Amino acid sequence: MTKVIGVVSAKGGVGKTTTVANLGVIAAAEFGRKVLAVDANISAPNLGMYLGIINPPVTLHDVLQEKFSIRRSIYTHSTGLHVLPASFSEGPTDQKELRRKIESVFHDYDIIFLDSPPGMSDEVIAAMKASDEIILITNPESPIVTTTLKNIKLAGEMKVSVAGIVLNRMCEREYEMSPSEVGDCLGVPVIATIPEDPRIPEAVSRAMPVAQCFPDSGSSEEFRALAAYLLGEEHVPGFFVRIKKLFDSVKNFFR
Ligand SMILES: Nc1ncnc2c1ncn2[C@@H]1O[C@H](COP(=O)(O)OP(=O)(O)OP(=O)(O)O)[C@@H](O)[C@H]1O
Ligand SMILES: [Mg+2]
Repeated sequence: MTKVIGVVSAKGGVGKTTTVANLGVIAAAEFGRKVLAVDANISAPNLGMYLGIINPPVTLHDVLQEKFSIRRSIYTHSTGLHVLPASFSEGPTDQKELRRKIESVFHDYDIIFLDSPPGMSDEVIAAMKASDEIILITNPESPIVTTTLKNIKLAGEMKVSVAGIVLNRMCEREYEMSPSEVGDCLGVPVIATIPEDPRIPEAVSRAMPVAQCFPDSGSSEEFRALAAYLLGEEHVPGFFVRIKKLFDSVKNFFR
């Protein structure tokens, strides 16, 4: 059965689009799933840019305005991931139609990832309503983590299940909240910790997800582990990660 996973956050710029682009290419290219990534960030879309799809002629806006069929607005990325981008075009869109539109292509996909705007606006509510479950992205800073509680409450009221928290941009500094502190504060498990990784903005500048551009980077490995978790697959750490873990354990032994 097709599952729709919404990627949501309390604050902007925490890494939702980065997460959707990377989960999408990993699930498609490495786990062989039929995957659609949808840009449900209607007012400030940029998922297409993260995947090298610049100025697509037909977008989700056209679909929600009933100008084109959903299939006309789906593009195939070089990794095999299918992408439904949005655009900056003007005009009203009926976001409540989002679920119905994507349901019409359910039989083409195993999994659909929805990128959303930050906060709790009507657009976020539409994205959450269109999702079977959500993952919440946060950074390890207490103002962002505590605001995330509001999204968890909203999800509870909407009866949308929360699959877990993704803690992005971890620098392993003592002032950061640890994964267990974040999990305890939110009452939801942390299912991935993604390190701060300069390879991510570097990959963005090349209009590619880091997992495609730098597959051996630390962040790519953590996105791979997250994708495996969400897909119910076993994750076998890559060679470089195994070496790093060995190095870290030797370092900790002599500390
Ligand atoms: N782990 C990371 N390490 C370094 N830079 C990162 C990391 N994750 C995201 N970034 C950078 O942070 C910026 C914001 O990321 P992104 O666009 O994914 O956030 P967002 O939550 O989708 O933002 P918005 O709420 O505006 O849609 C980007 O420039 C991205 O390259
Ligand atoms: Mg975004």
